[in-house]
Amino acid sequence: MVNDIKVEVCVCTECVMRGAMDLVESVESLKKLKRYLGFEGNINVETNKCLGNKKDGHHSLVAAINGKIMENADSETVMEKVISMIKKDVK
Ligand code: FES
Repeated sequence: MVNDIKVEVCVCTECVMRGAMDLVESVESLKKLKRYLGFEGNINVETNKCLGNKKDGHHSLVAAINGKIMENADSETVMEKVISMIKKDVK
């Protein structure tokens, strides 16, 4: 079964300072690679002004994968999660 993957990235000031735009770029690059990975679902990236509740920046960067919030995220942890979801789907 092909599952689409939706990644939301918080683009509030704190999250942008902690690499939100790098994360968006990383996920965008995965979109180009997905054909080579054998993944047939869609990978969507959306930016959101405030994904988390607090705006104190202590939980930045905030991202969500298919609605599941990841706090204190970075490109590495989010990409790892997305790639593991792709691998599960391709198996
Ligand atoms: S710091 Fe971006 S949502 Fe709270």
